[in-house]
Order: sequence, then C-alpha cells, then structure tokens
Amino acid sequence: MNCLSFSESSYLSLAYSHFMLYILLKLTTQNQIDISMVPKQFPEMAESSLSMQYPSVRLQIQDQYVVMDNGIVQVNLSNPGGTVTGIQYNCIDNLLEVLNNETDRGYWDVVWNFPGRNGTKGYPGNPSKKFKGYLDRLEGTNLTVVVENEEQVELSFTRVWDPSLKGNPVPLTIDKRFVMLRGSSGFYSYAIYEHLAESPAFDLDNTRIALKLRKDKFRYMAIADNRQRFMPLPEDRLPPRGQTLAYPEAVRLVNPVEPEFTGEVDDKYEYSSEAKDIRVHGWVSADPPVGFWQITPSFEFRSAGPSKQFLNSHDGPTSLSVFHSTHYAGEDLIMKFGPNEPWKKVYGPVFMYLNSLTSEEGPNLLWEDAKKQVMNEVQTWPYDFPASVDFPSSDQRGNVSGRLLVHDRYICENPTPGIGSYVGLALPGDVGSWQRECKGYQFWTIANEDGYFSIKNVRTGVYNLYAWVPGVIGDYRYDVVINITSGLCVDVGNLVYEPPRDGPTLWEIGIPDRTAAEFYVPDPNPLYINKLYVNHPDRFRQYGLWERYAELYPDGDLVYTIGNSDYRKDWFFAQVTRKTNNNTYEGTTWQIRFKLDNVDESATYKLRVALATAHSSELQVRINDPMANPLFTSGVIGKDNTIARHGIHGLYWLFEVKVPGTHVVEGNNTIFLTQPLSTSPFQGVMYDYIRLEGPSPSNSSKNP
Ligand SMILES: *[C@@H]1O[C@H](CO)[C@@H](O)[C@H](O)[C@H]1NC(C)=O
Ligand SMILES: *[C@@H]1O[C@H](CO)[C@@H](O)[C@H](O)[C@H]1NC(C)=O
Ligand SMILES: *[C@@H]1O[C@H](CO)[C@@H](O)[C@H](O)[C@H]1NC(C)=O
Ligand SMILES: *[C@@H]1O[C@H](CO)[C@@H](O)[C@H](O)[C@H]1NC(C)=O
Repeated sequence: MNCLSFSESSYLSLAYSHFMLYILLKLTTQNQIDISMVPKQFPEMAESSLSMQYPSVRLQIQDQYVVMDNGIVQVNLSNPGGTVTGIQYNCIDNLLEVLNNETDRGYWDVVWNFPGRNGTKGYPGNPSKKFKGYLDRLEGTNLTVVVENEEQVELSFTRVWDPSLKGNPVPLTIDKRFVMLRGSSGFYSYAIYEHLAESPAFDLDNTRIALKLRKDKFRYMAIADNRQRFMPLPEDRLPPRGQTLAYPEAVRLVNPVEPEFTGEVDDKYEYSSEAKDIRVHGWVSADPPVGFWQITPSFEFRSAGPSKQFLNSHDGPTSLSVFHSTHYAGEDLIMKFGPNEPWKKVYGPVFMYLNSLTSEEGPNLLWEDAKKQVMNEVQTWPYDFPASVDFPSSDQRGNVSGRLLVHDRYICENPTPGIGSYVGLALPGDVGSWQRECKGYQFWTIANEDGYFSIKNVRTGVYNLYAWVPGVIGDYRYDVVINITSGLCVDVGNLVYEPPRDGPTLWEIGIPDRTAAEFYVPDPNPLYINKLYVNHPDRFRQYGLWERYAELYPDGDLVYTIGNSDYRKDWFFAQVTRKTNNNTYEGTTWQIRFKLDNVDESATYKLRVALATAHSSELQVRINDPMANPLFTSGVIGKDNTIARHGIHGLYWLFEVKVPGTHVVEGNNTIFLTQPLSTSPFQGVMYDYIRLEGPSPSNSSKNP
C-alpha cells in the first residue's frame, strides 16, 4: 500500500513534504503564523496544477471489511457494522489500539434508558444495583456506498429501528457516514439519528465517537495551547500501580511504569473543555512523529450551547467527540423522547486529521499544524461534500445579524454596546433555556467591541435569539421568533438587553460571568497534583480541592466583610460541605458582613445571587438572624456534579431575594448563606456573583 516516504518519487509525497517544509520554515522564521499566507487546504493548494497528481480515492469492499484509501490514509471499517477497525498512515499499520477487540477501537455509541429509569431504578433483574443505562455501539446492519468516484467515497452504515432487534438497541434509526476525499489527510464522520413517530419513548444520556489509539505510540496529549502533556500509561491506573480516589475516574499513580508520573492524579474530567473551545484535540506519537487529531469546525450539533463542557481526549489514549452528555449539568440534560415524538438530528461531520513530520521536531509543530487545519475546516464549513440531504449546504442556510446593546440605567444613562456578548440561536424557549436545550441545533457567535454580531449558516427552522454578556448578570432573549429559510438574511437591528436591576449597587462580590474562576481557588493537596495545572490559569482543574475548605476554615465558616475582604482571596470558590470527625458531612453557613449608613424601612432592597453551579443543594438566605426562617430558599437544585468534576461552572442560576427595609439596620448587618444538605463531599454551590441593591431613589419614598 501507499506508505508515504520521501524516497518515493511521487508528486504526492513531494507535495506533502514541501508543505511540511513550508510549515517548518514558517514556524522557524516567525513566532506567529500568518494564516493568510498558508495555502487554504494543503491538498488544494495545488488544485489547479497538482491535484490530479493525488491518487483517486479507492474503495474495496470485502466480506467483513470495507476499505477507503486515498493514498495518504487507509481506513478499514467493519462491514456492515461500520466500526473503525484500522487507520493506516505514514508507515504505521494501525494507529488504533491493535490489542483491543476490533469492535473496541473506533465507534459511535449511545447510552440510553427507558423513561424514568435513570438513577432511580435498579438494574433490570437486580434492583439493588444502580442501573446507569444501556450502552449501544450502534453497529450497522447494512452498508450502502453513497458516493464512489475519484474525488470522494462516502459510506453509509444503517440500522433501521425495529422492535424485533435483539440486544436492547436504542430506539433510533441510525445512519453512520464515513467520508474520504482525494488528497485529504484524514477522514470525516457524521451520523443521522432519527426517532420515528411509532418508536418507543426513551431517554438519551450520552452519544459520541470514541477512538482508542495505540498506547505504545501515542503518549503526548494536546487539547489546548496551554493544556498539553505526556500522559501516563493506561496500566498505571490499575491497582497496584494506581490507587482509586473518591470515585473510579480519579486515580493516584503510586507506582507508574515511568517514575516521572509518580504521585500524580489522573482523572479524565481534568481534561474536559467547553464546546466553544473544542476545535481540535488529540495525540502525538514520537516515533514516527505522527499526530492524530479530531477537528470540530462547528458546534452547531452539540447540546446546550457554547459553555457546555464535554470530555475530549484523556488517558487511554482515547480521543472523543462527545455530541451530547449530561456532564456538568445532570438530569436536566437527559434527552427525553416521548412515544410519539418524531425527531431527527445530524451529528457532525467531524474530521479525523492526521499529520506527520519528517524529523523529530517535537509535538508542538504537529499541534500548530493541526490548528492551521482547523482554519481550513472552519473556512469550508458548512462542508459541501456530505451526500446526505439532511446536511444542508451553505446556500440552503440563512444568516442573522444585528447589534446587542445593554441598558443598565444605574451604570449608564444610555445603552452601551454588549461587548463580547455571546449571541446565539436555539429552539424557541424561555429566557436562558438554551443551556438545557439539546434536541435542536444551536448557532452562536461573539459580538464585537461595538456589539455587532453576525450568525452565519443557520439551518432552516424556527429559533429564538438568546444572549448573555460577560460582566452583566442574567440572560437575554429576543421575544420575536425567527423563522430561518434558505438564503434568508435577517437583520434584527438594535436589540437592547435590560439586565435585572432595581436600585443602585450597595456592594457586590465577584464578576458576573457565569463562572467562579475569579474567586479563591486553593492549591491542591500535594498528594493530589496534576503537574499540568501547577502555575496554570485553570487552577480549579486539580483533584480534591473540595477538601481544602475545611482545612482553611477549621473553626468556623467563611466570613466576608464588605470593604475589607477581597473576593479573589477571601471567597472560597465553592460553598462545599464540611467533613466531620466521624466521617459524616455537615452543611455550611457563610456570612457577608456589611454596613449601611442609613436605612429606608419602607423600601425594598434586592439581593441578587447568581450561581455558577449547584449539586443537590439548597441555598437559604437569612439576614441578621441566623435562626430565623429563611428569607429565601432556592429549594433543592442542581445535579451538575461540577465540584467532583473539577469544573468551574455548571448550569447558571439567577435568584432575586427581596429584602424588606425592616430586615436591615443602620450600622452592621450580616447576610447568612446556608447550604444545609450534606450527604456527600461533592455537594454544594459555586457562586458567580452577588449584589445588594439599595432602594430605587425614585420609588423608595413613594411606597410607604
Ligand atoms: C469482540 O467483541 C465482540 C462483541 O462483544 C464479541 O462477540 C467477539 O467475540 C469479540 N472478539 C474477540 C476476538 O474477542
Ligand atoms: C417558516 O417559513 C416557512 C417558509 O415561508 C413556512 O413554510 C413555515 O410555515 C414558517 N414556519 C413558522 C413556524 O412560521
Ligand atoms: C457526627 O458528628 C457531628 C458533628 O461533629 C454530629 O452532629 C453527628 O451527630 C455525628 N454523627 C454520628 C453518627 O455520630
Ligand atoms: C461593625 O463591623 C465592623 C467591621 O467588622 C467592626 O469593626 C465594628 O466594631 C462593628 N460595629 C459594631 C457597632 O458592632
């Protein structure tokens, strides 16, 4: 087969080597890569002259396998299952873990359940064991060659849902697609899931593509510019080399094969990322120098908007594209389908991209090249090659533009631009509903410094426009439903967000940005370090920080004094439970002490509390009397599990607490924030921002 080496005198390898040389030169002569200088897509750089030199894409159909080969990459799939059993590239016979069963190397899967079973019911046949759902690897039952020409091969592996299917398949009709293009250093995959009207009701927890790479080659993982490292071996996680910590995913490496990892904690959740940041992630092999990358040019198909967190690459070596999950959100993000609910959604395409170097220059060059490939993929999105009619091309989509302004009269008389706002379209719903929405598509952008935004390539359909503005509390929704049709360009003009506000700020704690990142994040226990996050902006990704609270506050809970305290140092990032001497947990009560110079007893003050996450928690607010009935309770909220998963936010909550003027006094006051629920170390809330507003000057004296 077509193992590329420089000795082969084909144009193909020459073109490729020239390209890599070009990259090398670029990288060595300047720090910053000028994207505009780089050919649009390296196979296409030669479109006019050289493209024809690339071999055509070839397809070989065998009894049990089907092979796509474009002379650069060869991909083997099971027939008709459509699982990836082999990826041959750059003289590596198979990049996937050859020690694994062929069904356990590269696959789409779904975790699902019958309605009402999640977390509440026992295992079928064994009610005492908690049943987490059925795992379905979506094995196809039929292969169709959708496209086969010199430029492209597209395969469709389908499984039509039928009540007679054995083995508890998810009640969806599945069409998994694999695409290979001429001259392209990789392959694409996407899938169409359809719930037919007559299919049974079910709950969908999780769906993804998983690729398991060879552990003898892929040791270096890269998920962001500042999140890359050599990773321990998977066997380091197993006892006695590894010691399981508070839950199975977190393992302390006590005797790893390579001593350099000794004492570190490995936990896949330390490597999760927000949807907006998952553009490229993957693994690098040193010998030969080869990179394996998953590139996601758009997150329109991922659930729950730009800030939803997903796993991506982690020890294994594993590389995932997770399209839907309940992580950092909990039960609110279980997709629930009724018995008579027709639904169809396209997940992907995502690009499995491979690159290589002719010398051992180090993994960073491969990462930089992969980032450049992201630009190429983003520029050609939405792709024009997918053959499914369910994947609309650019001209079948629409665009929405406008300008978002923020009008907070207590900050500025006139509306000001919503600088850097997140503006998106999602299925019609309540204000803020996008963070729990997962059945439709979402299209997000970031407004510029004048508040202007442009959302391109929106699929046809009916949407609300939602937004939130870093530095401003709450959520915006444009009340007019937008009906996108093919080729439509809608300009919604100036939209004005009036964030919740009833009076002047008396004091505030934190920054309203939907995360707890600005608060005090302690150093980890030296026993539980991930070296990647030492001296790193993402300090919160370390294991075990929840235990640091009781160590920092052994004799009493946190007290924050307005005017003296600094939220960056004196506000612990999570209000967690406290472990007692007898290994139970107890709730905690934090205090905010503040002074009021004068009080209008007839007026109403407003306490606004924004939470960045909650887990089986209740937030109670009392003022000046810690024993009184609470002035406010949130009720039991949240199943985000953010504290255990080292996130810095989950789902966003905003509460308004009315404080009658009779409840505060001139002089010193104390707000008591109690989280009483305490069965686990992972329970608690993270605050995003707290603000006390005084009475509105215009209203206070009018309402005796
Ligand atoms: C691989 O896994 C499949 C499905 O679980 C099983 O049927 C098959 O026997 C396994 N093959 C080997 C070689 O272990
Ligand atoms: C959206 O517009 C299309 C085309 O004009 C129309 O057929 C459809 O009924 C509209 N949908 C809604 C919900 O208004
Ligand atoms: C454990 O200790 C806490 C406080 O230290 C106490 O309230 C609780 O009753 C104790 N629980 C048991 C089971 O002894
Ligand atoms: C009010 O609180 C401040 C700061 O905590 C403290 O110094 C002062 O003594 C208190 N005043 C009264 C009257 O308790």
